[in-house]
Amino acid sequence: MAKRAVNVCMIGYRFMGRAHTNAYMKVGRFFDAPLQPVMHTVVGRNRQTLEEFAQQWGWQNTSTDWKKAVTDPAIDLVDVGTPNNQHRAMTVAALSAGKHVLCEKPLAATLSDARIMRDAARKARGCKAFVGYSYRRVPAIALAYQLVREGKIGRIYHVRTRYLQGWAGPEVPLVWRFDKNAAGSGSHGDLGAHLIDMARFITGQELTTINGAIQETFIKQRVIPGALAGTGIVAAAGGSGKKGKVSVDDATLFLAQLSGGGVASFEATRFAMGNENNHGIEINGEKGSLRFNFEEMSFLHFFDRTVPSRMQGWNKIQVSRAGDHPYADAWWPAGHHIGYEHTFINQTYDILMAIAGKKPVVPLADFDDAYETQRVLEAVEVSAKEKRPVKMKEIK
Ligand SMILES: NC(=O)c1ccc[n+]([C@@H]2O[C@H](COP(=O)([O-])OP(=O)(O)OC[C@H]3O[C@@H](n4cnc5c(N)ncnc54)[C@H](O)[C@@H]3O)[C@@H](O)[C@H]2O)c1
Repeated sequence: MAKRAVNVCMIGYRFMGRAHTNAYMKVGRFFDAPLQPVMHTVVGRNRQTLEEFAQQWGWQNTSTDWKKAVTDPAIDLVDVGTPNNQHRAMTVAALSAGKHVLCEKPLAATLSDARIMRDAARKARGCKAFVGYSYRRVPAIALAYQLVREGKIGRIYHVRTRYLQGWAGPEVPLVWRFDKNAAGSGSHGDLGAHLIDMARFITGQELTTINGAIQETFIKQRVIPGALAGTGIVAAAGGSGKKGKVSVDDATLFLAQLSGGGVASFEATRFAMGNENNHGIEINGEKGSLRFNFEEMSFLHFFDRTVPSRMQGWNKIQVSRAGDHPYADAWWPAGHHIGYEHTFINQTYDILMAIAGKKPVVPLADFDDAYETQRVLEAVEVSAKEKRPVKMKEIK
């Protein structure tokens, strides 16, 4: 029997646009999803590159007018993959028009925008609003979430996180990721937001106090790029050679207390040269520990302190066994590992489940949830600026 269609309107078609499009194409082939996404309309600003993208990836329609596209009665789900300062207007318009929304992370460029979005999502009855904290759908992270809930770690003492990239040398031009207006913050909102979400998601605990933070901008000025400059990782040439000011952090580090009594550390940087996407977490608890690094994304390391002392040691679990591991039923035989793009396919399956009123494999971040992460982003900035501890209660 044909499945009910979910017509998608996607805004932005570069890095995340490609990852999301691939997921819409594949999800119905690998998962028995209750609904079938249809790639109805892709939205962009440059007519030529938009048409080329639509043709290459199989979108049915194109539009250069996002306001019109998101209110089209044919559309069921609006997917926002644009720079962070665009999220508020696009998602609020979509929610007001009665659409489900998937917005990329962080929720917004500012806390006040994020609050408006959270309130719009609360008001939009019948609409589901999701935020693309896609690392939750790495099977090893989803397994870590499950093990914590099964009591395998017990009381949590330490959460140690880092997100290390090394691409932002002085030769990289001033793309939107270095502009506070467009991005809200630099490494902090780009990479640190994932760390905060991951710590909150796996432990189920909130950060209660930010005990101190450092933010630093190493490269203060960068060459202004040509009109077509893209992701910030690979930028198009063609600028005038003039330089402009970098208005965001290059690195942010902070310490925090957790609601369960534990302590946590966070380091986000684009200047850890030699690290490509070293996105990791270690959790130490009374019964055991967990360790994960995205550069070896198929593995979760688990230390079980409840086995006899002479047998204790780190287990390296290949998280790919059908029947046992999250999302593994949809993919390949055990040990035939999946990659980055599969996490977006897993995410799309869970979104379709949630829209159909069914339970996702592990919880999705909604706008309320992502707003809590945004509050932490804000508290860290206050702590760094005012050089003092900040209680989360201070941040409304
Ligand atoms: N989930 C993740 O792990 C992850 C990874 C990377 C980026 N992101 C998030 O995804 C979002 C987009 O990042 P990206 O890396 O894809 O950026 P990108 O620069 O690669 O793409 C941005 C797209 O938005 C379009 N755009 C910008 N302003 C627009 C406007 N006013 N109207 C229509 N289109 C517009 C651009 O033309 C481009 O197609 C950001 O919020 C970012 O933080 C999430």
